[in-house]
Amino acid sequence: MITVISGTNREGSHSARIARYVAQIHRQLGAETHLLDLKDLPPALLSPGAYAEKPSGFQEAFVEPVLRAHGLVIVVPEYNGGFPGALKLFIDMLPFPEAFESRPAAYIGVAAGQFGALRPVEQLQMIFGYRNAFNFNERVFLAGASRYFKEEGNPGDDDLAARLERQAKNFQAFIAGLRVR
Ligand SMILES: Cc1cc2nc3c(=O)[nH]c(=O)nc-3n(C[C@H](O)[C@H](O)[C@H](O)COP(=O)(O)O)c2cc1C
Repeated sequence: MITVISGTNREGSHSARIARYVAQIHRQLGAETHLLDLKDLPPALLSPGAYAEKPSGFQEAFVEPVLRAHGLVIVVPEYNGGFPGALKLFIDMLPFPEAFESRPAAYIGVAAGQFGALRPVEQLQMIFGYRNAFNFNERVFLAGASRYFKEEGNPGDDDLAARLERQAKNFQAFIAGLRVR
C-alpha cells in the first residue's frame, strides 16, 4: 500500500489537490493507495496531553495508514521557508521508531516561489533520514505552483504530468527493489 500525505491542514490547500492526483496515479499503476489529508487531523492533537494519550480516532485514521504503508509520498508546501507546522506535529505524534523505520518515502514540493519548496523537501529528507526511512531521491518540485492544477485532476502542464508519473513509476520500482533484498 502507498499512503499519500497532503502535508498541510490549510482549508482549500493546493497541496491537497495535488495529493489527490498523485494518489490516483499510484492507483492506476496498480498500487492500493490511501490518502491522508492533514486538514482532517483532530484539533485535540494540539493539546498538551496528546503526547501521552492520542485523541480518539487518530490511531485508525492516521497511524494505521502510515504503519501499513509500503511507501509514503509526502506532498509538502513551503510555509515561511520550511514545511508546515501541522506536518511536524503529525510526525511527532506518530509512534517512535516504527512509523518511519525502513519505510520508503518520496517527496513532492509545492511553493509559490521559484525554488518549488526545495527547502521543506530537504528538511523532511533530513528528518526522515534521521528516522531511518529510505529516502527516494527523485523529487518533484512545483515552483510558481498556482499555475498548475487550476482544476481538480488536471495538472494543466504536460511536463509536470510526466514528472509526476515518472516519479510514481520509479518509486514503485524502488519499493519493489527494496522488498526483494
Ligand atoms: C502560511 C504560509 C506561508 C507561506 N510561505 C511561503 C514561502 O515561504 N515561500 C513560498 O514560496 N511560498 C509560501 N507560501 C505559499 C505556498 O507555498 C503556496 O500557496 C503553495 O501553492 C501551496 O500551499 P497550500 O498547499 O497551502 O495551498 C506560503 C503560504 C502560506 C499559507
